[in-house]
Amino acid sequence: MSNLLPSLDIGGLKISPPIIQGGMGIMVSGPRLVAAVSNTGALGVLASVGSGEASDYEGMGVVERSALGFRDMIRATREATQNPIAVNIMCALTHYVSLLKVAIDERVDAIISGAGLPLKLPSLVENAPEIKLIPIVSSARAARLICKVWSAKYSRLPDALIVEGPLAGGHLGFTMNEVVTSPLSELERLVTEILEVTNEYGQKNNCKIPVIAAGGIFDGKDIARFLKLGASGVQMGTRFVCTDECDASIEFKEEYINARPEDIVVLQSPVKMPLRVISNDFVKKIQNGASANFECRYHCLATCEPDKTAYCIAKTLLNAQRGHFDSGFAPCGANAHRVDKIVPVRELVDELAREAEEALSSSPL
Ligand SMILES: Cc1cc2nc3c(=O)[nH]c(=O)nc-3n(C[C@H](O)[C@H](O)[C@H](O)COP(=O)(O)O)c2cc1C
Repeated sequence: MSNLLPSLDIGGLKISPPIIQGGMGIMVSGPRLVAAVSNTGALGVLASVGSGEASDYEGMGVVERSALGFRDMIRATREATQNPIAVNIMCALTHYVSLLKVAIDERVDAIISGAGLPLKLPSLVENAPEIKLIPIVSSARAARLICKVWSAKYSRLPDALIVEGPLAGGHLGFTMNEVVTSPLSELERLVTEILEVTNEYGQKNNCKIPVIAAGGIFDGKDIARFLKLGASGVQMGTRFVCTDECDASIEFKEEYINARPEDIVVLQSPVKMPLRVISNDFVKKIQNGASANFECRYHCLATCEPDKTAYCIAKTLLNAQRGHFDSGFAPCGANAHRVDKIVPVRELVDELAREAEEALSSSPL
């Protein structure tokens, strides 16, 4: 990598190029994708949600099954790469603590945690101080609260902060109104505001808290733009779906390739957060008030009330991951319609790094 594109330093963990592949649940970012990304020098992130479906763990309860599946996935990833790997464990998961224990036992390099405020995370990981802790936030208020509580209670600061804006894939930390009305430059505003918080805490504690921008970042020019704004790296999800190594079915990837701008819609998900998806007949039925009868098998998200929701989000996403779109839909970022081919991870990462370097060569950091 040339000097123009700095590496991302997360408490001594060097990521080069400075790209994190966002954790994508229900086995969209499984061992194959994560190892392929980490093998390029970027950081691969294994998602924990849905790990109980990674294999046939017949006869086990959901907590046991998820922990076992997660352990198996971490081990499979480790076997395929020597480089650092991270895991994504959402705070809203009912078995958050049990999954954290697996991540600690398996000595992952970093834990990324959003979908709620990971205020107690340092106390849950205190026996493994070498594991980097990276919260995901969507406001400067959340960033400040985490820094304040972590430094006061645990004498610790985040090793990095991921700032996820309203164009991101996955569940969004905004109201529906904010998602619909925010300007396209909202992520730039959030990154600038959050840099003020991290600079303040960094100066007081003689350290640097890297800020990582996420949501709608599509090409190397976008990466260069956020680096110039002061971010230390980016997290990208959508671009990594259309890779050969992504663990989702070919049908899932084709949903992205075939999507037109007007197909990308935002739903209020059963877990009471907005979720951007690629529309299809199933989505239209849901939007028209239909409900799919189901029995909750997963009890996966604390914010879900199964008896009051029209469909099971875990089952719906699992169906999509397996290519069953008559009863599933693909979550995506706002730029999914711009993806037009499926490529090897190495080719994608090289292209992103080259484009970022080109953009920085005409206007260096
Ligand atoms: C299919 C899909 C699944 C996702 N699952 C999760 C998840 O389980 N946990 C999480 O914190 N973020 C999740 N995300 C968000 C990504 O990690 C990432 O931050 C986001 O996709 C960045 O926006 P982009 O897709 O525009 O690049 C998901 C995104 C997608 C597209």
